Amino acid sequence: MASEPAKPLLRALARETLTQPPWWLMRQAGRYLPEYRAVRSQAHDFVELCLSPALAAELTLQPVRRYRMDGAILFSDILLVPHALGQRLTFREGEGPILEPIANHTGIGRLDPRQVIPRLEPVFETIGRVAGSLGAQTALIGFAGAPWTVATYMVEGGSSRDFRQVKGWAYRDVEGFDALIGILVESTIEFLAGQIEAGVEVVQLFDTWAGVLPEPAFGRLVIEPTRAIVTALKQRFPGHPIIGFPRGAGLLYERYIKETGVDGIGLDPMVPIGFARERLQPLTTVQGNLDPILLIIGGSPLEAAVRELCRSLGGGPFVFNLGHGVLPETPPENVEALARLLAESIATT
Ligand code: CP3
Repeated sequence: MASEPAKPLLRALARETLTQPPWWLMRQAGRYLPEYRAVRSQAHDFVELCLSPALAAELTLQPVRRYRMDGAILFSDILLVPHALGQRLTFREGEGPILEPIANHTGIGRLDPRQVIPRLEPVFETIGRVAGSLGAQTALIGFAGAPWTVATYMVEGGSSRDFRQVKGWAYRDVEGFDALIGILVESTIEFLAGQIEAGVEVVQLFDTWAGVLPEPAFGRLVIEPTRAIVTALKQRFPGHPIIGFPRGAGLLYERYIKETGVDGIGLDPMVPIGFARERLQPLTTVQGNLDPILLIIGGSPLEAAVRELCRSLGGGPFVFNLGHGVLPETPPENVEALARLLAESIATT
């Protein structure tokens, strides 16, 4: 048997209620930090940066050095999987990701799943470097995009407003589109298994665009693939917690938790705290869900919201986080103020 987990994040994900909630922030590494921008300006290409172990390890550690979060999230990107499958990926300044879109069976045929692990080897090396330099209280978090969200970028060729192409394909050609999802399920299992073997202690599945699907499609494209990934990882690594983040799932959050078997659930800022406490927290550890805009604003609105969140959810298994990623306009001193607030044991006040 594994020994009792000691790090606060792992204890919370094992359903323990802690007096001081463990915390980390989605996208805690990034442009809001001057030391991130300094490293970023040296690398010509974002993908190259993600695949440079020395730089990616440094970027993983930057926020933790400043703020001592309970979790260090690996510096990487959800689009490394399509890149490793052989799809061309670039990031242009101010434009976000650009991929050569895949539209059909022929496009799927060009993907090469056997290349995923060899091409992502540098990520495992980053994990080894970071694991050796974290404090005894900080857990290392690995991640991947969930198949549906990754597929949206692969099919739309980047970010999208209405998801017309990817939904069109998914609705029109169930068998063909499910073949793409199947490749992503297998690649994600292998990628996350590799991350765990390299030293991550927790993994999070980012399903940023889960909320754009109506219920039957949500079952097929969000729940089913997630359940397949969770089941495979649990079989191989029973002690390793998995957090799911089906952003925008609304009322379907409950079904997602019950049917996927995740150990923790990332809540977006629109999930009502009462619903989270009464319906979701009895099922699993809840994580979230401060509006990232409050971290830009700071001051008393930030303080009031943080206290309210901790008061409402701190009585059960809870991990403090934002409801989505840190925004580039966030003043670093507001993150410092947040760290201080959380350290004051406000769960009990
Ligand atoms: O949380 C962390 O600090 C770890 C690193 C991390 C990044 N991306 C680094 C990154 C994580 C966990 C992600 C996840 C990710 N990537 C998601 C899911 C979470 C979410 O935000 O919804 C998605 C959808 C992506 C895809 C992606 N990567 C987009 C759409 C963009 C462009 C938009 C943007 O914010 O710039 C990226 C680029 C990206 N990924 C940056 C960082 C730090 C910015 C790159 C830069 O420096 O220009």
